[in-house]
Amino acid sequence: MFKTIIEPFRIKVVEQIKMTTPEQRQEMIRAAGYNIFALHSDDVIIDLLTDSGTGAMSANQWGGVMRGDESYAGSPSYFHFRDSVQDIMGFEYVIPTHQGRAAERILFSVMCKPGDVVPNNSHFDTTRANVEFRGAIALDLPSAELADMDSDFPFKGDMDVAALRAAFAEFGAARIPLVMLTVTNNSGGGQPVSMANVREVAAVCREFDTPLYLDACRITENAYFIKQREPGYADVTVREIVAEMCALTQGCTMSAKKDAIVNMGGFLATRDPELAREEQNLLILTEGFPTYGGLSGRDLEALAIGMQEAVDEHYLHYRIASTRYIGQHLRDAGVPLLWPTGGHAIYLDAKRFAPHLAPTQFPGVSVAIALYLLGGVRACEIGTLMFGRHDAETGEETAGPRELVRLAIPRRVYTQSHMDYVIEVVIKAFENRDDLPAYRIVEQAPFLRHFSAKLEPVS
Ligand code: F0G
Repeated sequence: MFKTIIEPFRIKVVEQIKMTTPEQRQEMIRAAGYNIFALHSDDVIIDLLTDSGTGAMSANQWGGVMRGDESYAGSPSYFHFRDSVQDIMGFEYVIPTHQGRAAERILFSVMCKPGDVVPNNSHFDTTRANVEFRGAIALDLPSAELADMDSDFPFKGDMDVAALRAAFAEFGAARIPLVMLTVTNNSGGGQPVSMANVREVAAVCREFDTPLYLDACRITENAYFIKQREPGYADVTVREIVAEMCALTQGCTMSAKKDAIVNMGGFLATRDPELAREEQNLLILTEGFPTYGGLSGRDLEALAIGMQEAVDEHYLHYRIASTRYIGQHLRDAGVPLLWPTGGHAIYLDAKRFAPHLAPTQFPGVSVAIALYLLGGVRACEIGTLMFGRHDAETGEETAGPRELVRLAIPRRVYTQSHMDYVIEVVIKAFENRDDLPAYRIVEQAPFLRHFSAKLEPVS
């Protein structure tokens, strides 16, 4: 009836934002080696670096924090957590970890061996790194529709099923220990995966007797898109859609720092008792006893409650609408971005934003730094700095597949006026785009270089 979609919560506690000037920010980004990960976060006005672990917990979750039981073994908080995950996802064995990548490391350590191949719609960077660290090949099979940044295609996060079949034909099922679907597809622009695609991928996996796992960080946002966009799901609840997605798979890894709205936590889940036992053995080695897995009892309580809040449809309605609100305003102003907007983030297309810069001149870095300098907004490059390759011998840079700048929206943290400010900052940067400088790397690590690289502008 009314066109304004309100934040479906009241604010009980506030956190002061430190305001800075462009001159101060110029000095701070220089001191950070032109790497936005090296900034002190209190020098950032609006922090859209990630939606991971940055959400605001509810009064209920904070209540759970006080109830957390810190017993080493058999804590009631563990059972609350396990029951909550089982209630939403239906997996039999649920193993807590300190965050998503710990779950990934354990899963791939147990399931993969060197030379194996793991197909995924698109691996997230830590997922890829954990597959490769095991000596296996991380194979991205995104849908062809993802390449078209402007079309209205509703499920650009889908896996290319024909390419999955081709992978089975090329490598053979013996080399493919599992297939993964990342929902929503974070490296693929936060785009959702359709239920039809989960079903088709599951069917191919069944044919080759290969387990299908979800990277389920943003599964409730994905489910909400299915409800909104996929024929036949308008009257199905998000809770039912999540259950249906999980029912098609053998397990998942989960960074609960996303949809479960906790500041720290994750888990892996499976239906396979033998696998669960092996995973728990590894868990004990590095994370902790199976009833806490590197988390405090209070973290497990917050996670248990967050899982239930994540399927609340009033919350998801506001969440998805607010992301779309930013995207729509930027698109109306001509700013190039991935369309339709995903669940947790806006992805600017730095290639078209700064067409005078080659991928190896890091256009995404240049756009992200401009947003910081102009308005103290911190965004994240997902381009050649993150996914390009550096040949240490020849010094040659190979470009990544895309040049995106992600504005990730923390859950329940910022209001509409914060987002109006972000829209203004991005539009201003776009108006000044001809002045965006090239960057070059002066120092980098062999893995996940974007976290620690030092860069400089090329004058
Ligand atoms: N899988 C996906 C799809 C992710 O987006 C992330 C984290 C992980 C796995 C790893 O989880 O951080 O708990 O170890 N993504 C964050 C981001 C960091 O900013 O997108 P983690």
